[in-house]
Amino acid sequence: MRHLLSLFDVSASETQEILQIAERLQADWVAKKTSTLLAGRVMALLFSKPSLRTRVSFQAAVAHLGGSSLYLDKDVGWGHRESDADFNRVITQYLDVIVCRTGDHEILVRLAQENTCPIINGLTSLEHPCQALADLYTLQQLRHGRLNGQKIVYVGDANNVARSLAVACAQLDVAFSLAAPAKYQLEQTFVEKLRKHCPQAQIELGENPAQAVRDADIIYTDVWSSMGQESEQEERRVAFADFQVNAHLMSLAPPTARFMHCLPARRGEEVTDEVIDGPQSIIVQQAANRMHAQKGVLAWILG
Ligand code: CP
Ligand code: NVA
Repeated sequence: MRHLLSLFDVSASETQEILQIAERLQADWVAKKTSTLLAGRVMALLFSKPSLRTRVSFQAAVAHLGGSSLYLDKDVGWGHRESDADFNRVITQYLDVIVCRTGDHEILVRLAQENTCPIINGLTSLEHPCQALADLYTLQQLRHGRLNGQKIVYVGDANNVARSLAVACAQLDVAFSLAAPAKYQLEQTFVEKLRKHCPQAQIELGENPAQAVRDADIIYTDVWSSMGQESEQEERRVAFADFQVNAHLMSLAPPTARFMHCLPARRGEEVTDEVIDGPQSIIVQQAANRMHAQKGVLAWILG
């Protein structure tokens, strides 16, 4: 049995396989073919943080594949009604797969240690692997199947989204460049782990967005303060003030560059309206692809 807690849990060829399955299942969905791939299977979303895209796209994905889903939030008492050990041992008995969204990544690791059903990371403060899979799937669609030679420039906080994106890029031969203030860079330990996992990784770390975007195929950003970092908002607004993706920054990139954001966005902070709503933005296609990429994950993990 496999889990997807981190993209480090899968090899480059497995990541490719997940995207290939996604492509086939998207073609079936477009052709309105009825699927029974997950008939009789039950997925639970165990979420202790809010979600639109991850929650709804997973539930829609399972419905299209003939399975059923449950959304479990604080009412089930996770973390406060009984011990985590008891909760984890019991919940994994009922289900075929759990998608879990929580803060501390170790909580997810402990849930997976129960090992009676596969666990998928639906976001922790460390990683957001399903987002990165959908992002690379989107880039692959955009470039008609060719990922090799592409470059994603991520401008902003080296957070969960950035870490998973960096791993996915390394696995799929896409160059990844981060432009972030010194205090908010990718951790050295993470970069070392990435180079060990993917020795061919093309990764650049810098502090100058204007320079980084010059040869970008994708300019990507995310919020400056993630869920759980609300108390740091003011400090982060100051630190990231020169890292906004605005029309001027986009003008320094090639005209063929596209803008991506995992959403939800804080318009006027990390990105301006003119960019997120502008002709180079592909945020809606990117969000739509969450459902297709996650069908790939579910079909792969459930065999
Ligand atoms: N991008 C993303 O994961 O969105 P949600 O928080 O709405 O699920
Ligand atoms: N970095 C953001 C992503 C939300 C999808 C957060 O963790 O809040």
